[in-house]
Amino acid sequence: MTTTRLPTDAEIRALHEKHAPTRAAFELVHTHCEIVRDIALHLLAADGRHGLDAELVRVGALVHDIGVYRLFDGDGRLDTTRYLRHGLLGHGILREEGFPERLCRFCSCHTGVGISREDVRAHGLDLPVADYLAETGEEQLVMYADKFHTKSTPPAFLTADVCGASLGRFGAEKAAAFAALRARFGEPRLDRLRERYGHTLRTS
Ligand SMILES: [Fe+2]
Repeated sequence: MTTTRLPTDAEIRALHEKHAPTRAAFELVHTHCEIVRDIALHLLAADGRHGLDAELVRVGALVHDIGVYRLFDGDGRLDTTRYLRHGLLGHGILREEGFPERLCRFCSCHTGVGISREDVRAHGLDLPVADYLAETGEEQLVMYADKFHTKSTPPAFLTADVCGASLGRFGAEKAAAFAALRARFGEPRLDRLRERYGHTLRTS
């Protein structure tokens, strides 16, 4: 991308197809990104007070997990042991593709409710010591929306309580950060998305 124009859905889909090692990987990751886009835009539409750029949210959601493709092995299996690196890998892919930093950041700054340099040091995480924190409202909304759907086998939607509980395993401050996002952006209605995509809802 050499201009400041934001890419279309079709252009992002083509980028996914270019980097996906298999059709199954494409279906898994691209569908998840579409779901995160739908959740984020639904939250935005439900509450116009956020004052965020919906087009930027759309693009950020659609690209956020593109780094996951770099974690599939030759047999098409996802290497979950290196999963934490997917954000950084995605940032690198978009930078190589000529995307501006503000789009690359949706990849590197959406994991959990943000990873700080203190987190990296304290837990010995497999990442260069740095802050990976959503800063803009658009980055924060994409990060939040991402928590409501998982690429597990089979893929599933998660209730806000399940999201909060799973983040709480990483510390009380992570649960509090999620609670703050929940209070700010609200809870998405997932019933229509469940129908459209045919994924179940995990309630515990
Ligand atoms: Fe994601």
